[in-house]
Amino acid sequence: MGSLDQLSEMSADNSEYQRRRDEVAALAADYVRGNIIPDVKYTDAEHAVWQLVAKQLRERHHSVAAPEFLEAAERLDVGVEEIPQLQMVADRLDGLTGFRLQPAAGVVPFHRFCGSLADGYFHSTQYIRDGSTPFYSVEPDVLHEVIGHGSALADSRFANLYRLAGEAVQRVETETAVQFIAKVFWFTIECGLLDAPDGPRAYGASIVSSYGELDQFRSAEIRTLDIVDMVGADYDITQYQDTLYSAHSLAHLEDVVGGFWESCDDTSIDRLLAAVK
Ligand SMILES: [Fe+2]
Repeated sequence: MGSLDQLSEMSADNSEYQRRRDEVAALAADYVRGNIIPDVKYTDAEHAVWQLVAKQLRERHHSVAAPEFLEAAERLDVGVEEIPQLQMVADRLDGLTGFRLQPAAGVVPFHRFCGSLADGYFHSTQYIRDGSTPFYSVEPDVLHEVIGHGSALADSRFANLYRLAGEAVQRVETETAVQFIAKVFWFTIECGLLDAPDGPRAYGASIVSSYGELDQFRSAEIRTLDIVDMVGADYDITQYQDTLYSAHSLAHLEDVVGGFWESCDDTSIDRLLAAVK
């Protein structure tokens, strides 16, 4: 679908990209849960971006993505040839794990994003990144949402972790507690690793949807998954991560992070932060 010539033509003018991004995003503005998610009439050049990136990601996933993620991505089976329509992905997820998708016009504030997770909805953008930078996106786009989060949400155990994060944010009241839950979310749902015999493998959406970071993440300082250790850890969402956490297994991740999200409240998080500082 499409060609790289069309792709660079589309990217020659960034204001044209912004106009198109906003046009696609506007489809989400009037969306009401329960409605059919509007289809996007993607151009050949947009499909070419998907094809280029999705093929490269799939190749790398076989050697560095966690087996549980690979199996979930196979179940979702969105293909590499063209951008899937969000309603189709939403229907498949609903059938696989009961999770549903809701179109988003851009980054959704963390509190609202998590409220939806608790209800079993994941906010997903529909626009695709600028074709002039196919392997980098300044904001979450349909490649990140579908290949990263959508694949994980096709596994009921990962999906349950998303839901628990959402419920934890709903339970707490202080901004400090929300921020700490967001940090744990970042180090796991977005950037998490699982140990494997050949070295840590990624399941975090941000890493599995980043061609560059899939090549780099094993050079980061990789620590054993530990909530207490995360208190003092810094992160910058605009850079490749220099600190990552790997769980021994999915059961270990469920035990440590699922257990934390299931039981945490303002008091327990305050106590945790005070004990480490
Ligand atoms: Fe994300």
